[in-house]
Amino acid sequence: MTRPQPLIVGNWKMFGRASSVEVLAAIETGLEHSAPVEVAICPPFTLLALFAPLCRAVRLGAQDCNPRPDGPHTGEVNAAMLADFGVRYVIVGHSERRADQAETDAQIADKVTAAQSHGLTPILCVGESRTVRESGHAEAAVSAQLQAGLPDGVGAPLVIAYEPIWAIGTGLVPTTAEIAQMHAALRQVLNARLGAASAGVRILYGGSVKPAGAAEILATAGVDGALVGGASLVAQDFLSIIRAAPAAGAG
Ligand code: PGA
Repeated sequence: MTRPQPLIVGNWKMFGRASSVEVLAAIETGLEHSAPVEVAICPPFTLLALFAPLCRAVRLGAQDCNPRPDGPHTGEVNAAMLADFGVRYVIVGHSERRADQAETDAQIADKVTAAQSHGLTPILCVGESRTVRESGHAEAAVSAQLQAGLPDGVGAPLVIAYEPIWAIGTGLVPTTAEIAQMHAALRQVLNARLGAASAGVRILYGGSVKPAGAAEILATAGVDGALVGGASLVAQDFLSIIRAAPAAGAG
């Protein structure tokens, strides 16, 4: 099977201050010597305007968007506002937001629609808890979560990130067989919902991706890239992960 160009995304969460410009600069410099891999960084909202003119190879992403077009919603940022700053990707439905903000699948589906209608590519996150993994029903549960997070009539551009909650920030990673099985299940959902357009949808793995294990994960069947938290804050670690990605077309 021909692989699409891998996508490696850094999720900076509530880290990153103005001084992080140096990390971005080091990643940009490192990418001058890297094979063609698509790379995006999703810093906090406060850094988007600062990063926008500094991004060359790196694509700018955000960590969330409010699905509403405008209105009195204190503290919120919508997709149109992100598009103004040249943002290309937006993470939606990260498990930390599902937990912290009690986000529902219906709200997440609205965010997918809002992002796409403003020319942004949503990175829709799905993943099971430890309890669900141990119950043996992870594939059914995560497939259902993906179904519910996709709005009616969804098409491209779209990216999915499979992130087991128990793997995020813990150093634990599923086996490559478990990752391959889950990605195959999610691919089936995409095929059924998007038809031919599903071929353009990349499915990333996320959860404790570190330089040491990156090559094995990124070579796993059905893995089209990675969503990286902690390791994306250290330029050399993030570059190591980027360099571990297999070339497009290989595999
Ligand atoms: P981690 O985070 O790489 O630090 O586990 C991944 C994520 O939450 O996207």
